[in-house]
Amino acid sequence: MHKPFSQACANNQVVIGEILEHVFANKKHVLEVGSGTGQHGVWFAKKMPHLSWQMSDREQNHAGIRCWMSDHPASNLLSPLPLDVLSDPWPTAHYDAVYSANTAHIMPWQAVIAMFSGIGERLLSGGVFCLYGPMKYLGVLEAQSNVDFDASLQQQFAHQGIREFHDINALATKYGLVLQKDHPMPANNRLIVWQKS
Ligand SMILES: C[S@@+](CC[C@H](N)C(=O)[O-])C[C@H]1O[C@@H](n2cnc3c(N)ncnc32)[C@H](O)[C@@H]1O
Repeated sequence: MHKPFSQACANNQVVIGEILEHVFANKKHVLEVGSGTGQHGVWFAKKMPHLSWQMSDREQNHAGIRCWMSDHPASNLLSPLPLDVLSDPWPTAHYDAVYSANTAHIMPWQAVIAMFSGIGERLLSGGVFCLYGPMKYLGVLEAQSNVDFDASLQQQFAHQGIREFHDINALATKYGLVLQKDHPMPANNRLIVWQKS
């Protein structure tokens, strides 16, 4: 199997990890939604050995994730779970942290709703959800690079597109998540942290 590689993950994992180290300092069990290549999972599991890190994604991505896991074995890295947020049952375990990167603008809006609903249900009280990616504020994408990215996403698939922060935060509120911090990140991305009330 050809091992997948994401240059974006290689670029952003250090800066994301610096924030996760603080936010997840007292956490134990992390569920990652939409793990993609698996690069973030293996990196963060190594960086934060106090966590058990549960990757998940649609099954088509599992072979690639397993390639990364076999090259970077770690006892705190669990076998990936099949999780299409629209069609698969959510894991029955409860988590005190959830992480997802670059998923909200790729999934159809119905799936974004399903993701927040599932997280609201599985996250323990006091648990946190960290969502990384580009975001629109009051209808405006400030950076030209995000304007171009948004156009290319929508050209590729009509259901894709950079989401409006207020819509995302309204969903979070609906499913019992309270905004803690909206971190500006390099390359016009955000890392948003909510806590389950
Ligand atoms: C751009 S990739 C991001 C992957 C990785 N998190 C990263 O930052 O590189 C988008 C991910 O969202 C996942 N995804 C899309 N629709 C999904 C759904 N309905 N349920 C779960 N994951 C989904 C894709 O399989 C893919 O792994």
